[in-house]
Formats: sequence, structure tokens, C-alpha cells
Amino acid sequence: MVEARCCFKLLYAILVVVLLHMSSPCIGCSERDRQALLALKQGLVGDDGDRLLSWGREAQNKNCCQWEGVYCSSNQTGHVVKLDLGDQSLQGKISPKLVHLQHLEYLNLSFNNFGWSKIPDFIGSLSNLIYLNLSRANFGGQIPNQLGNLTHLQYLDLSFNGYQENSFHAKNLNWLPNLSGLKHLDLSYTNLSDIVGWLEAVNMLPKLTNLILWRCKLPPPIISSVSLMNSSNSLVHVDLGLNNLNSSIFQWLSGTHTNLVYLDLSYNNFNGSSIPASFGNMSSLAHLSLYDSQLEGGIPNSFAKLCRLRELDLGVNSLSGQLSDFVETLSKCAQKTLESLDISFNNISGSLPDLTNFLSLKHLLLQDNNLSGRIPKSIGQMSKLETIERKFKSNYPTFIYGSARISYTLDYEEEASLTWKGVRSKYKSTLGLVKSIDLSSNKLTGEIPSEITNLVGLVSLNLSRNQLTGQIPPRIGMLQELDSLDLSRNQINGRIPNSLSRIDRISYLDLSENNLSGKIPIGTQLQSFGPSSYGGNPLLCGLPLLRTCAEEEKGPGQTVLVNQDNKDGLISQGFYISLGLGFAVGFWGVFGTLLFNRSYRYTYFNFWTCFTDWLYVKAEIIRQRMPNTR
Ligand SMILES: *[C@@H]1O[C@H](CO)[C@@H](O)[C@H](O)[C@H]1NC(C)=O
Ligand SMILES: *[C@@H]1O[C@H](CO)[C@@H](O)[C@H](O)[C@H]1NC(C)=O
Ligand SMILES: *[C@@H]1O[C@H](CO)[C@@H](O)[C@H](O)[C@H]1NC(C)=O
Ligand SMILES: *[C@@H]1O[C@H](CO)[C@@H](O)[C@H](O)[C@H]1NC(C)=O
Ligand SMILES: *[C@@H]1O[C@H](CO)[C@@H](O)[C@H](O)[C@H]1NC(C)=O
Ligand SMILES: *[C@@H]1O[C@H](CO)[C@@H](O)[C@H](O)[C@H]1NC(C)=O
Ligand SMILES: *[C@@H]1O[C@H](CO)[C@@H](O)[C@H](O)[C@H]1NC(C)=O
Ligand SMILES: *[C@@H]1O[C@H](CO)[C@@H](O)[C@H](O)[C@H]1NC(C)=O
Ligand SMILES: *[C@@H]1O[C@H](CO)[C@@H](O)[C@H](O)[C@H]1NC(C)=O
Ligand SMILES: *[C@@H]1O[C@H](CO)[C@@H](O)[C@H](O)[C@H]1NC(C)=O
Ligand SMILES: *[C@@H]1O[C@H](CO)[C@@H](O)[C@H](O)[C@H]1NC(C)=O
Ligand SMILES: *[C@@H]1O[C@H](CO)[C@@H](O)[C@H](O)[C@H]1NC(C)=O
Repeated sequence: MVEARCCFKLLYAILVVVLLHMSSPCIGCSERDRQALLALKQGLVGDDGDRLLSWGREAQNKNCCQWEGVYCSSNQTGHVVKLDLGDQSLQGKISPKLVHLQHLEYLNLSFNNFGWSKIPDFIGSLSNLIYLNLSRANFGGQIPNQLGNLTHLQYLDLSFNGYQENSFHAKNLNWLPNLSGLKHLDLSYTNLSDIVGWLEAVNMLPKLTNLILWRCKLPPPIISSVSLMNSSNSLVHVDLGLNNLNSSIFQWLSGTHTNLVYLDLSYNNFNGSSIPASFGNMSSLAHLSLYDSQLEGGIPNSFAKLCRLRELDLGVNSLSGQLSDFVETLSKCAQKTLESLDISFNNISGSLPDLTNFLSLKHLLLQDNNLSGRIPKSIGQMSKLETIERKFKSNYPTFIYGSARISYTLDYEEEASLTWKGVRSKYKSTLGLVKSIDLSSNKLTGEIPSEITNLVGLVSLNLSRNQLTGQIPPRIGMLQELDSLDLSRNQINGRIPNSLSRIDRISYLDLSENNLSGKIPIGTQLQSFGPSSYGGNPLLCGLPLLRTCAEEEKGPGQTVLVNQDNKDGLISQGFYISLGLGFAVGFWGVFGTLLFNRSYRYTYFNFWTCFTDWLYVKAEIIRQRMPNTR
């Protein structure tokens, strides 16, 4: 009896809690806001998703605060404060009743299709808006001055509207200074060609951090009318690329912009001026692009003060000077941070200096310059040595390391007889991070240093159109990540190394116009390219070329091939079968071959240590490859 009463009380309590929980949101949604939303829905058609369909269908669905994309204030008044209707394939007319949502702070209508209609003037009545995103929504015509009424705005994004040339534009920006709290302004692709005083307007926004005016046909700034002292030092991200700016913009930027992290001035016309020394004062700068802007001269010495620079893009200009000067200046402080250096399509001369100080370099683009001399052997050491040392703390045999990159191990056959220590340090110095190198269209001479095969992270290598001689490094196959290889138009001779056929990922290959000879190695990849990849090498034969190999050439060549295949056949078969059969079987395939092959000195290694180590290294490598873990 007591138990039953207890049970009843408990049920009652649960019921009360449930009722309370259900009823609280019902207080939400004011009728006025609900009617405004229903009117909005009425005007819009072609909704692919079912977001708007869920709005107000039946009685139990009356609470608009629970509709998709609708968010109400957290207090009990139930006013709609946020409307997120981005990317809903909406078309049609925006109902003027939208302005009944007087508490709206956040409106996102981006990524829809309003058929190049004007942004309605009444949007200026949503005076509580903090965030307005109408980007990629196919609006057209003139931006309404009524936006100046939105004095609480912090984020305004009207970018990528009016795909048809000239259809989305502003006649003036007089309304802009009214938005004194603005932090983020993006008007990319808006025609602002008539607005001579655009910089003055921008200058009056004291909180602006992000200024994005990409491809706005901006006219050159008139600095005399702009207060340089007042130029906002809140700016962090400035993108003024693809406009008609002249070098007067440098004056404005050299004001007090020490907080700038990102600066893009590419595709403007600086008409032969040099890179301003004042940029060296932007001590936070991480990304600088001056691509294709008619700059001349060298790199200012002040760039030695840029200690956070990650990307420097100076391609397609008329810069001149010695590459060693560029490198010396940048190595003063940016050597640990610089990830991408692009000085391609300029007039830089001198030889390629030692770049091993640049510990983070991933992309090196120096094509179409006037570089001469040899490619230094040190190119093979462009990698992050310390990190690797830290990661692999105990004495793993190379083979264990190599299991992360299986075919890499195969090419290490000849090192198998080295001591553990020797093999290990060898491995350490070969874990490269460099992803792309383009030195094409210069005047480089000498051989391709075999050390280049140490850059095992390389995805793209272009050395075409130089005067390189000698042979393709025999261990080119170690570049297992290679997707694109272009060595065309040099004077490279000798055979194409067999190891090249072991790069599974390679999808672009050009070895044409060299002096290569002998039979093109057989392998699915190498035969999948057209004859043009090999053309202009008179002594090269075999598929895909139509020229068959002469008998005498076939004989010895093939013997060598067979021998090599036999030598590593045992282990490579083990590896490749193991790859196919999956992890567990693979492991045995690998170890099986090792255990029974006396030519390898690894075998005395404790099996289980190896196994757990293998797992550890595998996990580490996966972790290292995940972006943003550092
Ligand atoms: C509830 O939130 C709305 C919108 O944020 C605000 O205008 C209103 O003053 C708030 N009411 C109370 C009682 O806090
Ligand atoms: C606005 O909508 C777009 C498209 O769905 C979305 O990508 C964007 O993140 C939204 N903005 C915010 C701040 O949520
Ligand atoms: C606006 O929406 C677009 C998606 O269309 C998004 O990419 C962009 O980041 C948004 N802008 C802001 C300021 O959130
Ligand atoms: C500007 O906002 C006020 C309310 O703050 C409103 O009365 C007025 O109509 C708005 N003007 C325009 C042009 O939207
Ligand atoms: C600027 O805002 C004020 C109200 O703060 C308003 O009266 C005025 O019309 C606005 N100017 C423009 C150009 O929108
Ligand atoms: C857009 O810019 C061009 C200049 O490139 C100008 O001739 C044209 O009148 C502008 N179009 C509009 C609609 O403002
Ligand atoms: C400086 O900027 C403020 C806005 O932050 C503006 O009110 C003021 O008029 C500007 N002064 C000059 C001289 O441009
Ligand atoms: C940039 O253009 C403006 C406006 O035409 C002009 O006043 C200024 O002298 C120009 N600056 C340079 C460096 O040519
Ligand atoms: C570019 O600079 C040259 C002098 O170096 C000058 O004669 C020419 O007028 C300038 N062009 C423009 C568009 O400023
Ligand atoms: C860099 O900043 C210092 C200190 O503010 C200043 O003296 C110097 O003139 C600036 N250099 C350039 C090139 O603007
Ligand atoms: C390239 O730069 C050198 C000076 O380093 C100069 O003598 C030469 O005229 C420049 N060539 C071109 C095409 O600009
Ligand atoms: C290339 O550099 C040499 C000096 O090393 C110079 O004489 C020559 O003019 C440069 N070529 C071009 C096209 O600038």
C-alpha cells in the first residue's frame, strides 16, 4: 500500500516535470512574429529543402520559435531574434511584413536566388540587426541607402551578387559611416567604380577588422582627402584584390596598420613602384599577396622584421635582383613560419641558395625567372628534423618506420645492412614536408641532385625548361606522394628508373624533349600516359611509344630488370599481397618474408615490440597528417 502510494507520487512528479517542460516553449512566439513569418513564407517559392514547409502547418505547430531556422530570445517574450534561411534555394519576393520582426538581430538569406531584384528598402527598418548576410543570393541593382539605418550592424556581407556584369552596384557609400559598430564588411563583386570617396567612408569605421572588397572596380584612392592619422588600426584582414588601385593605397596602409594579419592587394596596377618598405612594420602579417600588380625592384630589407609571415605571394610582377637577397632577408625572422614562397614569373637571377633554414616551407614557386647554376644538394634536407626526432623516441628499426609508407621500405633494400643507428638517422632526415617545388623555365644547369628523393612529401615537382643534364635520380620512386612530375625540355640522359613505375599516385608525367634512352619500364602507371609524355627522346623505346626496342637493347636491359625484381620480389610481393588482404594478414605477410629471409638483419627483433611499435608509429603518422593538430 505504502509502495503503491509512493509509486503514484513518483508518477505524478514525473508528469508535472514533463508538462512544465512541454509548456515552457509554448509561451514563446508572439502572434505578430508568427504572422510576419507566414507572410514571408507566402512570398517565397521553390524551396528544395523542407525548412519552410515545416512552418505553421498545423495547430500543434503554432510555436514559431520551434520552426526550422527560427530562433527566439531566450527570455519569455518569444520574439524572433534570429532567422537563418541560408542555402534553401529560395526564390520569389521578400514580404514587407518581415519588418514586423522588430527584435530581429540576425538575418541570413545567403545562397538563395532572388532573381537579380533589388534589396528591398524596408530592410532598413530592421533597426536591431547585428548580422546581415545577403551574399550569393542573386540580388541586383543598386544597394539601398536605407542600410544606413542599421546602426547596430557588426557584420554586413553583400558579396557575390549580380552575376551579370554591372548589375549589383552602389552609387555612393554615404550610408556606410552610419554603421559605426561594423566589424566585418564584405562587398566583393559589387560595382563600386563610381565611388571616388570609398576610402574615406571605410576610414570612418573605427571597429572594422575585416574589409573585403574583392573585384569591386574600386577607383584609385585619393589620399589627400583621407585622414591618414585616423586610418583605422583595428583592421586585421584586408582584401582589396582585383581592383584599379594605384600605389597611393600604400600610403594609407602604412598608417597604423600594425595589426594586419592578412593583406591581399593582388591584381591591381602599381605601375612600376617597388614593394613599400613600410610593410615591414606590419609585425603581425602572416599572409601577403601582391600577385600580378606591376611591381618592380627587390624585396625591402624591412621584411627582415616580419616574424609571422606564412605566405608570401609576389608572383607575376617585374621584380628583379638576386634570389639570395630575397632568401637572406626572409631568413632573418620568417624562417620558422614561412610555408609558401611564390616569386614566380619575375626577373630574379642568381643561383638557388640553401633553403634548409625554412623549416615550415611547403611550397616553393620560382618558375619563369632567370635563375642559373646548379640545384644544391641541400634541397634534400628541407624538412622538419626536430619534430621527427621527438616523435620517434625509441629504437625502431627502419622497417617499422617504413611500414607507414610501405613501398618506401622496398627501395631501402640496399640500406638493410646498415646498423640500426645508421638506418634510423637516414630515415630521420628524409621525412620531408615540402609539397610542391616549381623551378621551371629558368637557366638551371647540372644534374638533378639525388638528394631530392629525400623529400618524400613532395606532391608536385616541376623542373622543366632548364638546362639540366645527367640522369633521373634512380630512387625517384621514393617520392610516393608524387602526383605530378615534369622534367621536360632539359638535356637529361640515361634510362628511366624502374622505381618511377612504383609511384601509384602519379597522374601527370612529362619527360619529353630530353636525351633519355632505353626501354620505358613496364608498370601500369607509366604505360597509361600518352606518347607525348615521352616524345622528343630519340633513343627511348617501348610502350606507349610506337618505337619497339632493338633486340640487343632488350637483352641486357631485361636481365637487369629481372634480377632486380627477384631481389626485392620476396618482400615486395609480401607487401603488396599484405596490402590487399588487410591489416592482420598484411602484418604477417610482411614479417613472414622478413623472418625467412636471411639477408635481412631485422629478424632478431622482438616480434611483439615491433608489433606495438608499429601500431604506435602508424597512429602517430595518422595524427601528424591530420590538419590543425599542431
Ligand atoms: C527579451 O528579449 C528581447 C529581444 O532580445 C528584448 O528586446 C526584451 O527587452 C527582453 N525582455 C526582457 C524582459 O528581458
Ligand atoms: C548563413 O548561411 C550560409 C548558407 O547556409 C552558411 O554557410 C553560413 O554559415 C550562415 N552564416 C552563419 C553565420 O551561420
Ligand atoms: C555569409 O554566407 C556565406 C554563404 O553564402 C558565407 O560563406 C559567409 O561566410 C557568410 N558571411 C559571414 C560574414 O558570416
Ligand atoms: C529607420 O529606422 C527607424 C526606426 O529606428 C524607422 O522609423 C525608419 O522608418 C527607418 N528608415 C528607413 C528608411 O528604413
Ligand atoms: C544615419 O543614421 C541616422 C540615425 O542615426 C539617420 O537619421 C540617417 O538618415 C542615417 N543616414 C543614412 C545615410 O542612412
Ligand atoms: C560598373 O562599372 C563600369 C566600369 O567598369 C561602369 O561603366 C558601369 O556604368 C557600372 N555599372 C553600373 C550599373 O553602375
Ligand atoms: C576619425 O574617425 C572618427 C570615427 O572613428 C570620425 O568620427 C572622425 O570624424 C574622423 N576624423 C577625421 C579627421 O577624419
Ligand atoms: C593614384 O590615383 C589618384 C586618383 O587618380 C591620383 O590622385 C594619384 O596621384 C595616383 N597616385 C599615383 C602614385 O599615381
Ligand atoms: C606609370 O608610370 C609612368 C612613369 O613611370 C608614367 O609615365 C605613367 O603615366 C604612369 N601611368 C599611370 C596610369 O599612372
Ligand atoms: C616603421 O615604424 C617606425 C616606428 O613607428 C618608423 O619610425 C618607421 O619610419 C617606419 N618605417 C616605415 C618604412 O614606414
Ligand atoms: C632583369 O633584371 C636585370 C637586373 O637584375 C636587368 O638588367 C634586366 O634588364 C632585367 N630584364 C628584364 C627583361 O626586365
Ligand atoms: C639574366 O641574368 C643575367 C645575369 O645573370 C643578365 O645578364 C641577363 O640580362 C638576365 N636576363 C634577363 C632576360 O633578364
